[in-house]
Amino acid sequence: MAKVFLKDVQKVYDNGFAAVKGANLDIADKEFMVIVGPSGCGKTTTLRMIAGLEEISAGTITIGDRVVNDVPPKDRDIAMVFQNYALYPHMTVFQNLAFSLKLRKFPKAEIKKRVSEVAEMLDINSQLDKKPKALSGGQRQRVALGRAIVRNPAAFLFDEPLSNLDAKLRVTTRAELKALHRRLSTTSIYVTHDQAEAMTLGDRICVMYNGEIQQVAPPMEVYDKPVNRFVAGFLGTPPMNFLKGKLSTKDGSPAFILNDGDVITLKNSNGQYKNYLEKEMIIGVRPEHLTVEPLAGQAHNGIKAKVNVVEPLGDRKDVYLTSTANQKFIANLDPHTKIDVDHQVTMYIDVNKSHIFEPGETGKNITISAN
Ligand SMILES: Nc1ncnc2c1ncn2[C@@H]1O[C@H](COP(=O)(O)OP(=O)(O)O)[C@@H](O)[C@H]1O
Ligand SMILES: [Mg+2]
Repeated sequence: MAKVFLKDVQKVYDNGFAAVKGANLDIADKEFMVIVGPSGCGKTTTLRMIAGLEEISAGTITIGDRVVNDVPPKDRDIAMVFQNYALYPHMTVFQNLAFSLKLRKFPKAEIKKRVSEVAEMLDINSQLDKKPKALSGGQRQRVALGRAIVRNPAAFLFDEPLSNLDAKLRVTTRAELKALHRRLSTTSIYVTHDQAEAMTLGDRICVMYNGEIQQVAPPMEVYDKPVNRFVAGFLGTPPMNFLKGKLSTKDGSPAFILNDGDVITLKNSNGQYKNYLEKEMIIGVRPEHLTVEPLAGQAHNGIKAKVNVVEPLGDRKDVYLTSTANQKFIANLDPHTKIDVDHQVTMYIDVNKSHIFEPGETGKNITISAN
């Protein structure tokens, strides 16, 4: 059991590339922290620095009460599970599971006891005499997991452990991992580029982009209150819509005037809009917060648009639209909504759930931050 603490951690590779630019992350004992972000954002580098497989260029990493900057990987009391499983091909499942305990000179009886407990837990006890190549991908993944668990480490580090599994198995294994964490309560740091994995597994999630941590919070808080446009667009499928326009006022209330001319009256603010009036900004609205009927008290908040594509998905209907000024957006509607392709419609925005962002890839969400 251990907390893990990163303070101003940086990684500059030998070629001068800064892969992690000052990461601060405080992971509580027993917490399941997911680090999520697109490929190349520095997730693996961060995890490998925690594991000690990669030297850190600056900052401090603490595991438990110990600064581990100069502690070799084998003495950090952590276990890492990799995407490719990294099993020993010439060893049986039993030998793979027992290997680290044998190295640490555990008595034979203790090794046997621990291995069978873990094999039972992961439902691989009938596979113990097989070699990895005789197992399915899902079973290999369990052995890799089992190898980490037998050691009873202070923390687990996972690097995209499910990404080699097919879609269906990924979803069931994800649920099993969550149940396993509830049972073992071992501090876990889990890296993935998959936002659904992040949302479902994390007690908190840490969104990374471009070598920088963007936001750390419980999944629904990140979803509902993204600190910037990158985070807002990264979580959610279909993603949040971003439409251009400017902040202004209408009849004394703050308003967003879309480049198309449509006017959206915003909630009265705590003054956070005042420095942005008449400036080019972005309004962000999730597909599920658009409707064909105006919401109570929001009858004027419509965007005129043309329907390009309608996708009936059973549980919902995704509708692809183009506004008057050719801004594209997607609405996620009730599956029984009547809406026809090539028709002109008005889509209504729920302003209570929309956000105003500064322009730019990581433009700040000014709706949630009072200034
Ligand atoms: N040994 C290395 N030397 C130079 N650049 C590297 C090295 N390893 C990774 N990088 C770069 O650092 C960035 C982050 O890599 P990585 O941490 O693997 O990202 P992620 O796991 O989020 O996909 C990438 O742009 C990658 O190309
Ligand atoms: Mg990676």
